Amino acid sequence: MSAPRFTCRVVVVLAAAWLVSVSVASPASAAPGRARTVHTSYNGLALTPPMGYNDWSYYGCGVDQAVILSQARALVRTGLSALGYVTVTTDDCWMSETRGPSGELRADRTKFPRGMGYIGRRLHAMGLKFGIYEDAGTRTCGGLAGSWGRYRRTAEQFAHWGVDYVKLDGCHVPKIDGQSREQTYNQAYARFSRALQATGRQIVFSASAPADFRVGRQRLHVIAATSRIANLWRDGADIPHAQADGAEEWNGIAFNFGYNVGLGRYAGPGHWNDPDMLLVGDSSLTSVEMQSQMTLWSEMAAPLIISTDVTQASPAALRILANRRIIAVDQDRRGVQGHIVQSGSGYDVLTKPLADGDASVVLFDQAQTGATIDTTAATAGLPSSRRYELTDLVTGQRTQTMGRIAAGVYGHGTVIERVRPGAGVGLPSAAAVSIGRFAATRGEPESVTATVTDDGDASIAGGTLTLAVPAGWSVSPAVQTLPRVAAGGHATMRFSLVPGSPPAGGVVSELDATARYRSAGHAATQTGRVAIGSVG
Ligand code: GLA
Repeated sequence: MSAPRFTCRVVVVLAAAWLVSVSVASPASAAPGRARTVHTSYNGLALTPPMGYNDWSYYGCGVDQAVILSQARALVRTGLSALGYVTVTTDDCWMSETRGPSGELRADRTKFPRGMGYIGRRLHAMGLKFGIYEDAGTRTCGGLAGSWGRYRRTAEQFAHWGVDYVKLDGCHVPKIDGQSREQTYNQAYARFSRALQATGRQIVFSASAPADFRVGRQRLHVIAATSRIANLWRDGADIPHAQADGAEEWNGIAFNFGYNVGLGRYAGPGHWNDPDMLLVGDSSLTSVEMQSQMTLWSEMAAPLIISTDVTQASPAALRILANRRIIAVDQDRRGVQGHIVQSGSGYDVLTKPLADGDASVVLFDQAQTGATIDTTAATAGLPSSRRYELTDLVTGQRTQTMGRIAAGVYGHGTVIERVRPGAGVGLPSAAAVSIGRFAATRGEPESVTATVTDDGDASIAGGTLTLAVPAGWSVSPAVQTLPRVAAGGHATMRFSLVPGSPPAGGVVSELDATARYRSAGHAATQTGRVAIGSVG
């Protein structure tokens, strides 16, 4: 009797995106030019999304003078401040439990022995801006002295300390008879906003109220009201602390992305949706996930507020934060928040129109394993053109396409391309790599096809196509010669593989096919990905 056969079958569950049914979303709330709230900065500040540092997600109530000043020095030393990360905000727990004899807020002298005015002076001497946290209610979320009934006093004190940015939280706001909670919040934040303006100092106002109204109809009312009296406002949930586990952190990022992405109508120069801090740095995220948060936040014109220990940040994390091409998308002066133009099973395509007529297009794979995601310049809202220049904003690779935009994206990953209509002459053609559907049984040879399509108007002179398989699988030959492909044409290649052990249920792995080729005299690379799952 032969040994019992392994019966679990392994199949490709996500083939190339053109095999996946595609629904084109038209979120009225987010489409540029449609239903957007058009108003400028109420105080002339924050014409692009604020950038800087906040200690909260990394240090919580453990903040002190040494933490703030060492983080500030690290921003300068790493060059991040020169790229725009200039506002250093001391979050909750800098203050005492009670106000002083004349109603003044007092620093906790064990943590800030020289007071908060000293912090402001030191930050300014480093060329940075001074941000501070307070609460609109009777106490902060950490239970320390709040500002209820003392907005003028607080604003004057902050101006005196040289504060440039206030984050006003909304814990412990009392219930007022005859008023809805929404009315009380709106009134309180509007008063604080006026108090800041009355100081005559230019102070960016970051409001937290919308984060206290996450459900129901008031959700949008509060954002609309806040967008007239503040420069940015928190929405979604608190981003997890940097010490949380990777899954919790990723779920927090994915939740806030989903919450924030449809709110584009409220965003614009001087008034921004804030889906909370960046966890790029010393967190449990993978580098793919860190890159995704940076990419998605920039595409959504979100404030870029680092919350990590910058003194210990890895070179990979610093590279992600310092990517000028992606920062330029976030800081684009047109100030449109990117929105979803196409979605499918586990993936989204976003577009953000930019001031110079380009668009930034993001392919986002929310699933755990990778896929090739496929869209077009027309879907991304670009005008019709014979050719488009594509710049991959992470790798810097420049190619040209006649309209299709396709790339292999890692699970939890993003690809971000800047797309320029009417440009790209002399650049290599963009390629799309798709992997054909197959089903395989462990130990039984199977063949899989990979197709390279030339999306540009130059031919692909040839190169190689490499198939990477999960550990325990074998493939032969893993590297094949890619023949010449005419502009607009394609070449299909066949690989023999032997599947290894089955995944223990669910989608666990992926196949990647990478084309390395020459076109228009330049070298270029493109990868296609496909998830592998198990059935049976
Ligand atoms: C709230 C805010 C956080 C942080 C803490 C401080 O939870 O949403 O960002 O400021 O309070 O206590």
